[in-house]
Amino acid sequence: MSTKEIKTNLRSHTCAELRLENVNQFVTLCGWVQRTRDKGALIWVDLRDRYGLTQILLEEKTSSPELLAKVRSLGREFVIQVSGKVIERIAKNNKMLTGDIEIKAEKITILNSAQVPPFLIEDETDGGDELRMKYRYLDLRRNIVRKNLELRHRLSKAVRDYLDNQGFLEVETPVLIKSTPEGARDFVVPSRMNPNEFYALPQSPQTFKQLLMVSGFDRYFQIVKCFRDEDLRADRQPEFTQIDCEMSFVTQEDILNMFEGLIRYLFKTVKNVDFPEFPRMTYADAMKFYGSDKPDIRFDMKFVELDIAKGKGFKVFDESELVVGICAKNAASYTRKQLDALTDFVKRPQTGMKGLIYARVEADGSIKSSVDKFFSPDDLKIWAEKFDAKAGDLILVLSGEQHLTRKALNELRLEMANQLGLRNRDTFAPLWVLDFPLLEWNEDEKRWFAMHHPFTSPKPEDMEKLQSDPGAVRANAYDMVLNGVEVGGGSIRIHDRKVQALMFERLGFTDAEAKEQFGFLMEAFEYGAPPHGGLAFGFDRLCALFGGSDSIRDFIAFPKNNSGKDVMIDSPSQISQKQLDELFIATVAKK
Ligand code: AMO
Repeated sequence: MSTKEIKTNLRSHTCAELRLENVNQFVTLCGWVQRTRDKGALIWVDLRDRYGLTQILLEEKTSSPELLAKVRSLGREFVIQVSGKVIERIAKNNKMLTGDIEIKAEKITILNSAQVPPFLIEDETDGGDELRMKYRYLDLRRNIVRKNLELRHRLSKAVRDYLDNQGFLEVETPVLIKSTPEGARDFVVPSRMNPNEFYALPQSPQTFKQLLMVSGFDRYFQIVKCFRDEDLRADRQPEFTQIDCEMSFVTQEDILNMFEGLIRYLFKTVKNVDFPEFPRMTYADAMKFYGSDKPDIRFDMKFVELDIAKGKGFKVFDESELVVGICAKNAASYTRKQLDALTDFVKRPQTGMKGLIYARVEADGSIKSSVDKFFSPDDLKIWAEKFDAKAGDLILVLSGEQHLTRKALNELRLEMANQLGLRNRDTFAPLWVLDFPLLEWNEDEKRWFAMHHPFTSPKPEDMEKLQSDPGAVRANAYDMVLNGVEVGGGSIRIHDRKVQALMFERLGFTDAEAKEQFGFLMEAFEYGAPPHGGLAFGFDRLCALFGGSDSIRDFIAFPKNNSGKDVMIDSPSQISQKQLDELFIATVAKK
């Protein structure tokens, strides 16, 4: 930003701006006192603003006693205005943008005093997580945190530029909507004017964007807050932001191209990275080769099924539904202790495996395994061929029930990649995962659920199976995965009332329930709904990936903690009896 833009009645320059060519200019800066160093004859103040740091100098010999007294009264984080002349520094600091100069202060005005902050407002801080969350507005003064929000701003600007160029209109949809039982849990808001009735906060603007297509908007987007009452993790917040998009008169291919284009544009403008065409993988292959619908393909280590290891007298394998493994390149040097630790890893209750089998390919090509008793050197040679394992490689094998075993091997694969340094944050591997199943069976409720949402279109060629074999029906649904993170997902929608009714029926809705919950959409489909489809990106997740972090919290100005609380404003909190009465809510026990 240039001086012309930043200049106000209170300041002439920012704290990142002045250089040798400004020497002898009279300037006025404003900012926060980062620190002062008082050497008696000389006093320095580091002045900080959003843009950077500038050093201020006072000399005992030449400064007035009042000025010296004032500078000696400054505490950390006082807000001050300093006027003086830019001079060349004797001891230059090439780590600072303004390290060649300093300001010889002639006047200091204290704009506001400050209490000693509860933690150091510097890149290396002494503040723990909770403390920094409580004083988030102070944490936001730190470069690292502010830079994350600057990145977020640049990304949202680039998203708007790209979509605007492609003819998308940004339309706001309501935040007080209607609760529906599908998907995650809703946050609800009681209505004072309608006793005992509740609004719900949107989990996404899904039905509204579809209605906008019925309205003929053709290309819609919105950078929009969504709310889901679900368990929190590093990549989940109860309120988060989507880049929500919808298009009319499109096929799946049009959507994939348009939004691959968006991600490409973001990488080019924000990171100057170019990508070849994004690879595509079916859901079935993702599960078969990676045990996950969001494989991290920055590295290979694909699953290899080892049916040939059955029938050799090793009971564990013989009694398993699936024997499957990975080959970790150059990991044959793993010690007994490391292998034991990996075994413990797969045996954790959340992974649930009974054990881990390994085979090392030694430097001379011989193979040493943990099951040498059951498998001959020739058997193990066939293993090595199957895994394409070379001297120095380590084969790791799990066995058990199909689903559990693939899931556990996915975790082991990611853990090995972490240990071997294969998950570099500066490497980006995008991937489309296609052809998701339309439905998934919920054993607890003994009914089918929509895997994406109930408005997703089955693949026309699979329609007939909707009655006979619902689990085998594939959807025109897709996810975009980046470095093993689901950054976005969407589908081609149902736009035919009869198909939508059939879908609700498959999901176990009675006609009355479907009408009660989604009647407005079904009715809209009677008035000329165009074929349409779209997707939504998790904007916080995209920001975190661009910023090289696992945690989306770092990219949200005022996030919630892991218990869904904002400890700064102390929310959620109890409300008064008067408010409860107005809302017709029975009194709840006071804490
Ligand atoms: P979906 O539920 O897949 O699709 O959400 C889209 C993307 O939003 C992100 N996301 C989250 N990010 C942070 N915290 C959360 N709690 C959270 N939940 C989801 C993910 C995800 O890929 N309406 C459909 C989209 C469509 O069909 O067009 C939808 O909401 O990155």
